[in-house]
Amino acid sequence: MSREPMRSVTIKAPAKINLFLEVTGKRPDGYHDLATLFARISLSDDLTLRRTAKAGIELKVSGDPLPVKKEDNIVYKAAAAFFEAFGIKPAVEIKLVKKVPAGAGLGGGSSDAAAALKGLCRLYGVDAGRNRGKLGAVALALGSDVPFFLTEGAFSAGTGRGELLVPVRAKGRLPRIVLVYPGVPVPTGPVYRALRPSAPGEIAANLKKFQLLIRSLKSGRPLADWAPLLFNRLEEPVLPDHPAVMRARKYLIGAGAPAVLMSGSGASVFALTESRSDAAKISKILKKPDFKVFLVDFLLKS
Ligand code: C5P
Repeated sequence: MSREPMRSVTIKAPAKINLFLEVTGKRPDGYHDLATLFARISLSDDLTLRRTAKAGIELKVSGDPLPVKKEDNIVYKAAAAFFEAFGIKPAVEIKLVKKVPAGAGLGGGSSDAAAALKGLCRLYGVDAGRNRGKLGAVALALGSDVPFFLTEGAFSAGTGRGELLVPVRAKGRLPRIVLVYPGVPVPTGPVYRALRPSAPGEIAANLKKFQLLIRSLKSGRPLADWAPLLFNRLEEPVLPDHPAVMRARKYLIGAGAPAVLMSGSGASVFALTESRSDAAKISKILKKPDFKVFLVDFLLKS
């Protein structure tokens, strides 16, 4: 069943953090297989899409500047891929307000791309549920994190490149997040290229922790129980080469944060805290000229 088309749609593109990320192997296609736990957070970009009389894809970006040409923006690519996949003649204007830092391990661009696909479905009356397979393939071709942002739940366990997703329903009170972008982006490709293979026994032990972390969230265990299970293999190649990320991590630990981890391939580092007042205290200590500090929550509903 196709939905009634709309003239204009405004949609939020929330960022993510990874509470766990182990690299389980290198694939023949050059990508890496992962075991990761994605979590959507309350920091987002905004997209407004409008059908126009003029043919083509018009993209207007404001907010945090992006160092790319319009045609290289992932939102433009997502729109072009949507029109191609569904055989629709493009005639759209997309306004993107950037607030999520780029090169930050927060999936900002990936979320923008997924929001563009969702918004275009609404605009053209394409049923996203019935076209899940097609949209999923378009999303994965745009980037490994894009399929996660097509889903709606707060937490998802991801394997494969991160596109094989199982929703995780967390119970209980969730921690508050202090998120720090240390001011210098980290490009993803070189991080995976610098990664050394890990011992199979170590990976197996980490996968047990991954399952335990998922179970802890599902059963509503307090942060203190699952904080030791947070893990990101990509800290190994990133921290020695990126002093700004190392500094942000040290500051968060020094400020007394109980659980600190880099998100994705960096550059952002986050701390989870039991209370809002602890988070506020830590974020005050973190006020450094180069750092962008965000006090955010897990996003249970987008
Ligand atoms: O898929 P995406 O464009 O986000 O990936 C950026 C780069 O990160 C890829 O070119 C690849 O080098 C690396 N990558 C990987 N394995 C993944 C995800 C990303 O090797 N699962």
